Amino acid sequence: MQEKYQPLFEELRLNNGVTLTDRLGMCPMLVFASNDDGTPSQLDLDYFKLRNEVGQILITGATTFQPHTKCGPHQLSIENDEAIEPFSKLASVMKEHGNKAIVQLQHPGREASVGYAETGNAYAPSAIDFPFLNYPVKELTDGQIKQIITDFGKATERLIKAGFDGVEIHGANHYLIQQFFSEYSNRRTDFWGGSLEKRMNFPIEVTKEVISVARKLKPDFIVGYRLSPEEIHGENVGYTIDDTLKLVDKLSDLDIDYLHTSTYGGGNFGKDAYKAYALKGNQTKPVNALIKEKIAKREAMIVSGSVKTPDDALDALNYGDIVAMGVVALSDPEFTNKIINDQIDQINLNVKDRLKELVIPEALVEVYKAGAPLPPLEGLDLSK
Ligand SMILES: Cc1cc2nc3c(=O)[nH]c(=O)nc-3n(C[C@H](O)[C@H](O)[C@H](O)COP(=O)(O)O)c2cc1C
Repeated sequence: MQEKYQPLFEELRLNNGVTLTDRLGMCPMLVFASNDDGTPSQLDLDYFKLRNEVGQILITGATTFQPHTKCGPHQLSIENDEAIEPFSKLASVMKEHGNKAIVQLQHPGREASVGYAETGNAYAPSAIDFPFLNYPVKELTDGQIKQIITDFGKATERLIKAGFDGVEIHGANHYLIQQFFSEYSNRRTDFWGGSLEKRMNFPIEVTKEVISVARKLKPDFIVGYRLSPEEIHGENVGYTIDDTLKLVDKLSDLDIDYLHTSTYGGGNFGKDAYKAYALKGNQTKPVNALIKEKIAKREAMIVSGSVKTPDDALDALNYGDIVAMGVVALSDPEFTNKIINDQIDQINLNVKDRLKELVIPEALVEVYKAGAPLPPLEGLDLSK
């Protein structure tokens, strides 16, 4: 290995005492391949087996835990104790080379389009007529909100029993936790909304619940939290980086092991996403630099977004402690081994004619063809 890449393989100790042996990870990515009951299929197992050497931190795609809340077809879901055994197979495959198996736990809230198709119900903090949804949403009651928090804890317990090393609370990408934090989506006036302080209550209560279950059952279980640093769509401002820095401060006072930022997609985040500046508010430094400064070493920070080369990964370490990769993990699962074995010139991110070999399911290609706002895959044929 070229010596300059050594920083990518430095150890890192998390708050729970776990020591990571490298600074690389795989981003959470939906595979759209689960069995009908949400448990991992053989295709899920094959997909992760191929990618289980990408880095120490391996994160599954968004995984729901309440019935009828899926946002995508064949999404993973851990809804009951019967799911523990099938999920344990996924944990084993992910941990095969000593890397950490982490499940991203998600409640999609208003984005539960599959749930809506199944039951005619989708729930959100407030019953707003969202112009981008083709179905109505209902306002969550206080009781339902408390049940979701309890169920985050129950899912954590099941994942511990299934042998996973950690969970990542999905507070990003417009799903329920972000919907509570967003002034655009949350118009409540009770404990769960009304001021910035109150809009933080749901994210904080979910995190406390997950931490309390984890620390009781498995003290070295990894608890991470992912957030989108800002929510700005033209006139619609859900929150700015300044609001996020206040949430980061509160989350960092809890006993989390890492904070993971999700920076990709539109706005400033199309290219060099991991070092993009905010669209509004504090633009003195890239958002990830501002967030890292706010964390002030209280937990580790994972950065991600448009890392395509080993040099990008090295550069991204200037903004966080761990670098997670999505498109790279999809397109060249041997990326990290090629850095180690001095075969950088053999890194190949072009997926043309390699979909089978890369275990990229047809359903995932269909999602791309339908125009989902995902980072593009080089060489993917989008003709219908
Ligand atoms: C196919 C696909 C599925 C994704 N699913 C998720 C997901 O389930 N949860 C999530 O937080 N982000 C998801 N993302 C976003 C990635 O985690 C990541 O933030 C994004 O791809 C940018 O990183 P990259 O440029 O290295 O790909 C997905 C991305 C892709 C390409």
